[in-house]
Amino acid sequence: MKLFETEDYFGRYEFSQPYMLAASDCDNVSIAELIRLGGGSMEEFSRLPLGYTTMEGNATLRSAISAQYRTVTPDQVLVLGAPIEGIYTVMRTLLAPGDRAVVLAPAYDALLNLPEDITGSVTRWDLQTVDGRWRLDLARLADLLPGARLLAINFPHNPTGYLPTQDELDQIVGLCRQHGVTLFSDEMYRGLEYPPATTLPSVADLDETAIVLSGASKSLGLPGLRLGWLIIKDRRRYRDIMNTKVYTSMCSPQASEYLGTMAIKAAPQLVAKNLAIIRENLRVAAPFFHKWREHLRWIPPQAGSVSVIEMRHGSADALCHELATKHGIVLLPSRFMGCQGEYFRLGLGRRDFRECLAVFDDVLTKHGPALLHRGP
Ligand SMILES: Cc1ncc(COP(=O)(O)O)c(C=O)c1O
Repeated sequence: MKLFETEDYFGRYEFSQPYMLAASDCDNVSIAELIRLGGGSMEEFSRLPLGYTTMEGNATLRSAISAQYRTVTPDQVLVLGAPIEGIYTVMRTLLAPGDRAVVLAPAYDALLNLPEDITGSVTRWDLQTVDGRWRLDLARLADLLPGARLLAINFPHNPTGYLPTQDELDQIVGLCRQHGVTLFSDEMYRGLEYPPATTLPSVADLDETAIVLSGASKSLGLPGLRLGWLIIKDRRRYRDIMNTKVYTSMCSPQASEYLGTMAIKAAPQLVAKNLAIIRENLRVAAPFFHKWREHLRWIPPQAGSVSVIEMRHGSADALCHELATKHGIVLLPSRFMGCQGEYFRLGLGRRDFRECLAVFDDVLTKHGPALLHRGP
């Protein structure tokens, strides 16, 4: 399979370098704190048996998850061993060699690489930049969908932080219906909209045939829980995708299911905490990018915990490589996620953002021209 470049890069630098400025998750809490927030008990947690669990996922957890949607019932929730497993199992179940999959690009590597690996190619539906803002090209989508089997979208979007309007989302759903294309909506960052009133309805509540992916890694800031879930309303597809899941994780650990139930109960507090961190980081980022505007162009995100920065002169790969190896600063070349052009990803969900950005500012002040103009 194609190299998973984003995770390969993080594998090299995430735990070895001190200044992480590219993470897509939000600051996390401890197990004890999560249990306190969710109203559970450490005693109860410590007594959990370490046996197999159900393939669908714990009934209490599925019921808590379904209550987060308007029209979803617990039996339409499939709990995953990890959110990434949702991308794998859906693509592996729904696509076959020769099928056409359309994917909103850029995208988290798996959303582009898995359909390409299975079908032999992938059709990109590229986000555009118009007047310094990200835009969807719906006319282009209408051209791409006829004959396609699946459309994969992700809003709030990683890596741009783009959020469509309700009308745009309705048009996407309508076009998929019109052309009989299955809509796969990755909603990992849903809930991190600023202001929260701009949160769109989940696609699970807009289209009975769509499949939705969500989880605790981003909006709840709990990636270590490895909790994800799919909403699949079609019974046959539910069973087919669950069958694929039996070949990967089969069922979730008891501990994650218990803690996952705590996480869903504590979701309002966790999301509020993460949104407060992101808002503060956006305030810190604005003067930084104003200062470096001759070299770096930032399109502030509308939602989520990431955004991308365009380099006006040099190579993003060269900048990120030099920052990681010589200065301990981790930024992610967005080329890994299919960004065309010289972009790198900035994460906004961590509490140490101000400190890390100050180190980046120092490095640019000392080495700016050389770093910012270096070719690939
Ligand atoms: C859009 C998107 N979907 C899915 C995932 C997978 O989440 P996890 O790594 O928690 O499995 C990620 C992770 O970065 C992501 O950005």
